Amino acid sequence: MAIVCKSPAEIEKMRRAGHIVRQVLDELAEQVAPGITTMDLERTAERRIKESGAKPAFKGYYDYPCVLCTSINQEIVHGIPSEKRKLKEGDIVSIDCGVVLDGYYGDSAITVPVGDGQPEQTKKLLQVTRDSLYRGIQAARIGNSVGDVGAAVQEFVEAAGFSVVREFVGHGIGTKLHEDPQVPNFGTRGHGTKLRQGMVIAIEPMVNVGKPGARLLPDKWTAVTEDGSLSAHFEHCVAVLEDGPVILTQ
Ligand code: MF3
Ligand code: CO
Repeated sequence: MAIVCKSPAEIEKMRRAGHIVRQVLDELAEQVAPGITTMDLERTAERRIKESGAKPAFKGYYDYPCVLCTSINQEIVHGIPSEKRKLKEGDIVSIDCGVVLDGYYGDSAITVPVGDGQPEQTKKLLQVTRDSLYRGIQAARIGNSVGDVGAAVQEFVEAAGFSVVREFVGHGIGTKLHEDPQVPNFGTRGHGTKLRQGMVIAIEPMVNVGKPGARLLPDKWTAVTEDGSLSAHFEHCVAVLEDGPVILTQ
């Protein structure tokens, strides 16, 4: 599949989709508290997306059943919201949301602490994962390659003593949720697809406290760490433009 570079008008549409995702995630971050369920978050998101005039991007994508992915603690990504999953003090929850507006996609994720009783290592995991995303974004420049983005993320994460997941990667995004190229959170500088003016990529580091390995739960969606260690996930859509990277999910 060819990589599609976007015109300024298309990037503007993606910015609008991205802005809706941001507003939804901001509201969900406020709602996260001990005692609420991940289905409570799902209902808020579904209502807000509808009110915005956009459509959810994930529901029905390969038969995925919800508008959000909600992944608690050792869950890496693609946890399915459930009435049975009640958040408790000290947990962390990754919330991943995508929408399509006027034919263009926005996709972003955050990991939020539940209450404030997290151990220092957990706080460090959230900080390092968020910062690694910004390292990746800073590398998303014309003339750099996808390998520069992955290397920037990986080097930062590993220097902090954590590890990056290999089984799931970021992606191009535009008139489809997933476009070429794949954007791994690991790599070699100077390798892989060269970044060009107008490319839009979703950069989404998934970082484990322990070993990098992942496995799927029997629901065939939820990815968890093989070693049971905690995992965090942050994601932004980024346009590669003349003056540098521009975050569209802002
Ligand atoms: N942000 C995730 C991704 O980009 C969400 C996909 S969930 C799915 O891959 F259900 F849509 F597959
Ligand atoms: Co994504």
